[in-house]
Amino acid sequence: MKKFVVTPWEVKGEVDYNKLIAEFGTEKITDALIGRMMKHTKEVHYMIRRKIFFSHRDMGWLLDEYEKGNGFFLYTGRGPSGNTHLGHLVPWIFTKWLQEKFGAELWFQMTDDEKFLFKQDLSLEDANSLAYENALDVIALGFDPKKTFIFSDIDYAKTLYREAIKVAKKLTFSTAKAVFGFSNDTNVGQVFFTSMQSVPAFLPSAIRGKNIPCLIPHAIDQDAHFRVCRDILPRLGYFKPAAVHCRFLPALTGPAGKMSASDKSTAVYTTDTEEEVRKKIMKYAFSGGRETVKEHREKGGNPDIDVSYQWLAFFEEDDRKLEDIYNMYKAGELLTGELKQILIDKITSFLREHQRKRELARKTIDKFILKD
Ligand code: TYM
Repeated sequence: MKKFVVTPWEVKGEVDYNKLIAEFGTEKITDALIGRMMKHTKEVHYMIRRKIFFSHRDMGWLLDEYEKGNGFFLYTGRGPSGNTHLGHLVPWIFTKWLQEKFGAELWFQMTDDEKFLFKQDLSLEDANSLAYENALDVIALGFDPKKTFIFSDIDYAKTLYREAIKVAKKLTFSTAKAVFGFSNDTNVGQVFFTSMQSVPAFLPSAIRGKNIPCLIPHAIDQDAHFRVCRDILPRLGYFKPAAVHCRFLPALTGPAGKMSASDKSTAVYTTDTEEEVRKKIMKYAFSGGRETVKEHREKGGNPDIDVSYQWLAFFEEDDRKLEDIYNMYKAGELLTGELKQILIDKITSFLREHQRKRELARKTIDKFILKD
């Protein structure tokens, strides 16, 4: 197995998710846990069924609290460094379902400060305005305006900073360095930043003066922040937040690793036109097909490494359809070009609807935004 790296700022190599569970000290989502969730949700989300969400921290405790009548709130976020890509939507689609099933509030953090501090060429103004552009994608997914609070770190700083310094006071440079791998050229804003990402995990508790459980859905790359957060929050008198982790939607050029917003050709953005989506998938989607049609028909393709198939596993909700595609591709009945076309149809029809709702969100965004 080749070496791989997963940090909030870098994902490299072929990620072994089981190894990450051991390395980060998280827990696998077991059938027993799924059964327990089912009691409340009545159905299993396809992202759980397909092990796209594969790992967690303290979900058992969270459900204990929920069953005692101590409901939780959801917390997730986005670092606005560019347009939203399809990978970002993965945790948000699941978060939307959790909001619906558990009637939970969602606190959504836009870390424009983070992106300003970490991206050499990004201005504060651009990071801040991208926060509101990205918020349109969140709103377009259908979150409840009465229960969803979206805020930019810069524009909600008065509230967040008061709490962030309480976290910062408990975090030594030596811990930050060990967890995030900082060096002498790291700017001091970067060292402080993780304190800001901890705040929403207890902010509703601080505001309301009582401890409220928190669940954070995110891809596994963000875990380092919450290891620090979970260590410090009890020392401030708050619960450790629970978390649920997903795998990465791979880059089109895949088949392993994560789709990254900085590589424009290998990511599909929510703002891409149908033509752009078609061209990117046709040109770049890594194929598990054979060299020639003849060989493909005879020996069949390999859906397990085929990125078009992987993407369908993230976005095609119908299990039967997905299974048929898998079997037909493996048997050589479906060619790579045909599989790519199925993906193009799926993504373009999803984006057509998403882009319509995204434009409508411009009218309702004020209902979601917190500022101080
Ligand atoms: P960011 O903007 O890098 O990513 C936003 C969310 O998308 C997840 N993600 C992915 N999921 C699946 N496939 C991918 N290829 C992929 N790429 C990214 C990320 O894990 C994240 O959940 N610092 C954070 C913003 C943040 C946050 C949070 C995220 C603030 N508070 C709480 C999660 C939870 C960031 O830069 O995310």
